[in-house]
Formats: sequence, structure tokens, C-alpha cells
Amino acid sequence: MSSLLITHIKSLVGVHPNEVKVLRGKAMSNLPVLNDAWLLLEDGKIKDFGEMNSIPSQLTTYNTQLSAQGKFVFPSWCDSHTHLVFAASREEEFMMKIKGKTYEEIAASGGGILNSAKKIQKKTEEELFESASKRLDEVIHLGTGAIEIKSGYGLTLESELKMLRVIRKLKENFPIPVKATFLGAHAYPSEFKNNHEGYIKLIIEKLIPQIADEGLADYIDVFCEQGFFSVDETSRILEAGAHYGLKPKIHANQLSATGAVEVGVKYQALSVDHLEIMNSSATDTLKNSNTIATLLPSCSLFLGIPFADARSLINADIPIALASDFNPGSTPSGNMNLVVSLACMRQKMLPEEAINAATINGAAAMELSDTCGSITKGKLANLFITQPIPSLAYYPYSFGSDLIDQVIINGKIY
Ligand code: NIG
Ligand code: FE
Repeated sequence: MSSLLITHIKSLVGVHPNEVKVLRGKAMSNLPVLNDAWLLLEDGKIKDFGEMNSIPSQLTTYNTQLSAQGKFVFPSWCDSHTHLVFAASREEEFMMKIKGKTYEEIAASGGGILNSAKKIQKKTEEELFESASKRLDEVIHLGTGAIEIKSGYGLTLESELKMLRVIRKLKENFPIPVKATFLGAHAYPSEFKNNHEGYIKLIIEKLIPQIADEGLADYIDVFCEQGFFSVDETSRILEAGAHYGLKPKIHANQLSATGAVEVGVKYQALSVDHLEIMNSSATDTLKNSNTIATLLPSCSLFLGIPFADARSLINADIPIALASDFNPGSTPSGNMNLVVSLACMRQKMLPEEAINAATINGAAAMELSDTCGSITKGKLANLFITQPIPSLAYYPYSFGSDLIDQVIINGKIY
């Protein structure tokens, strides 16, 4: 039996009761904390916690101890939207953006997702696993303790399967929960440029059945957007996915509001992600659903597109999750600390709301609420200890600083 006792914690953050699975509206600002606390981790799980003034004396004699004087303990970030398996970086497009080209213009001229797809064909599963492992290791050191990863840079039968097998290998080799999402409908590959029907058939008739057969994906995603997949096409793909039990988590309303949120909700999407461009129909649809609104502020920062209107969503009682969107084209960063800071700075989310959105609601957006997202007895002991900081708000306020002292995964220092 392995155990670790953390004592003298200045503030133990996110001590939500077990029945809290997802937060919406006013409840999003409710982030319970325990000051001057202790926390006992046993066999990879959160065993117990309490205040220092009532710590059971036998605990202090039997356990390996760590003092967290002046420090905060946070539940690990739950990053519910990433594309962290990719073949190569795309800083040449970054240069094009600096010189004035938009994301759409770069994509239309063969850059963007197709650029990544071309490069991935040439990589072996081992090479992709190796580069993705480095990124996953990096984000775990940055506080991420559960993650979703998408395919979508393959765009052929072989390469989509290759990506999903890499994600499976990451699941098997890393100590944190990993969820896999099939995003074959990320862009039309060049060979199907004038034959959309052919590609949709490939997805529906070949890819989805084989992926389901091999159990390679937990979820299905579509980039539902002008110039990518239409609402009707999205609908057909989600229908096919539903037939195989794949729940949707879709890219919606990133560049325009053309019905993506509505089609996602129609197919009971677990989450609709991006939402930079909303209208009242999309908001009303979301309000009357159980679908989570996942916002990706570092994508807005990098592309220079509007930030999603978090306040309106919170006012409408819609649950918000925050995620990184880590990918080589629109968000070359998987840093959830920056995501939380940006949500406060640019989306006017309170620190409490942003932290809940990046933990408990992120867990909900991966169906991991029972095991991740808060400091709750019985949940996985995935958390991080900060350096000494004066207050909770100081954490998102000091954006760009690395304030993590130690990362703990499954009760062990990572
Ligand atoms: O979430 N919007 C679509 N997909 C990614 C970007 C993919 C890329 O440019 O490589 C996103 O922003
Ligand atoms: Fe994305």
C-alpha cells in the first residue's frame, strides 16, 4: 500500500462533494476550498482530507509526508479538447498570419489541416507516438491530469487508424486518463476535393465501422463549418456514429454561426466546442440541453479571432468547460494555466469559474466526473502543488509564470 500525506496546505482547492458532477450558471462560481489543510493519498486515490487543527495523530506517524506550507493544492486540469498527435509544427503558417493571411485563407491555399495530413502520411506509428509522448509529458508537467486527444490529421483509412492507434498507445503508456475522439471529418482531403460524397461514404461505411470494431474511439467529432463540413454532412456522420455508440463532441461555431451547435445538440453531443460566433438560436438550443459548452481561449488568442462570450453562456445557465485545443495550426500550446488566465483576462470569467471550468466541467466533458476534476474522496489522486502564492486569484493573474511546484499523478510525484 502506497500512501502520501500532504500537510500544512495553505488552501486545498476544489473540494466538491461527490454528487457534484457538472456546474452551470451561478454555481460555476462556487469553488469550495479548505484552508490550512491536510490531504491523504492512498493507492493512487484521494483517501481523506481535513483541517490541520483536527488532523488524526496516527496519520502523522505512519505516512510519507510532504509539507505544503504557503502553497495551494489544485485538482489536475482536465483538458477535454486536444489534437496533440501530429507530425510537424506549422510555424511557416504562423509567419503567413503575421503577414496578414487569415486561417481560412491559409487553409484554402492547401495549408492548414491538409498540410498536417500530408506530413502524417509519411510518419510511422512509432515516430508519432514518440513526438506525441513528449507533448503529453510536457502538459502533465504543466498540471494536466486527464486529457482528450483527437485524430483528424490522417484523412485516409490508414492514417486515421494510425493516429487512433497512437492515441491508444498513449492511453496504455501514460498514467493519466486519455479519451480518444475520431475526427475523420476534419477537412476534405485533396483527392476528395470535388467528391465530398466519396469521402463521407468512406467515413460512414469504412472508417466508423472499423474504428468501432477495434474499440479505437470513445467519441466522434466533425469540424462543422463553412468550407469544411456542412450541417447536413455533419448530421449524416453523427447519425452513423450514433449507430455504433459514438457520442459526439464537435467543433462548432468557430468561424460562423450556421447551425453547428444545433446539429450537435440534436445528436446529444457531450460537448460543442469553440463557440466564438454565437447567435440566439444556438444559445437557446444549448440552454435547453445537457450539452457542455467547451471554450478554447488560447485558439482565439493565437488566431486573433473573437473570444467566446463566456458571460452570456453562464447567464444562460449553460455549463462551460475550458480546454486547450493543443494543435499545430490554431493553438500550438497545451498550457492549461494560460487557458485559465485567458478565460479570466479576456472572457471575464472569475478565477473560481475558470478553475471549475478547467477541472470538474472538463472532467464532465470527458465523462470522467466520477474519477477526476475535484478533490473528492475516492477520486484519482491527480493534483498539483503550487509554489507559495498569496491568494487564489494570484494564480490566473500571474499569467505566463510557472507556479507549479510539484505534480502528483495517481498519488505519486510525477
Ligand atoms: O480546433 N478547427 C479545427 N481544428 C483545429 C485546428 C486544426 C488545424 O489548423 O490544424 C481547431 O482549431
Ligand atoms: Fe480543435
